[in-house]
Amino acid sequence: PAAVITIDGPTASGKGTVAHRVAKALGWAVLDSGALYRLTALAALNQGVAAEDEAGVARVAETLDVRFEGPHVYLKGVDVGHEIRREEVGNFASRIAAFPGVRHALLERQRAFRLPPGLVADGRDMGTVVFPDASLKVFLVADVVARAERRRKQLIEKGISANLQDLLRDMRERDARDTERATAPLAPAADAHVLDSSDLTIAETVQAILDFWNK
Ligand code: CDP
Repeated sequence: PAAVITIDGPTASGKGTVAHRVAKALGWAVLDSGALYRLTALAALNQGVAAEDEAGVARVAETLDVRFEGPHVYLKGVDVGHEIRREEVGNFASRIAAFPGVRHALLERQRAFRLPPGLVADGRDMGTVVFPDASLKVFLVADVVARAERRRKQLIEKGISANLQDLLRDMRERDARDTERATAPLAPAADAHVLDSSDLTIAETVQAILDFWNK
């Protein structure tokens, strides 16, 4: 099978940006697994399926009609790249990610991204569940205040003002849901390199991962 580098970690740890840059440096593809949970959430919202309806949401995940094309992502042929980033969608995604049926439905879809020359996969359970035989596993952490500040900066760049206290509370709630769920709780794989990016720039974080890979 093709080589895989997994980058897991909590919300707003910078995984997505870092994964894209590592993939670019290596000339590999990238899997944003969170996008699949967000797409499931958006499809459920569109179909009027409630976040509590486990069987209903699992069915939505099983029948998800999605296509990834470069930076674009299509749901039933419609470009929803911006829509899946909405807070409402992220919150719904965080709740339905706890359902075993949803996680199971998305498993093979994620593994299908593993093609030569290689894949950089970012998420919560890439190294523990989806690609347990990955060539390199990174668990990216950063303290919650650093993550809330990064998220606030991102929002400001999009012209959205956000209160740091609200972001902190939201982030702690998401962390709790990710680490306390029974199925695939957020935790580093036994063989993962834990990398703390609180005091690192994006470029330094990318370099640290490339150094692991080249060792
Ligand atoms: O913005 P944030 O980093 O919180 O979210 P994301 O990476 O886009 O993922 C959306 C949601 O899907 C998160 O709340 C995670 O709980 C969930 N997720 C997951 O359970 N497993 C993954 N491999 C990726 C995301």
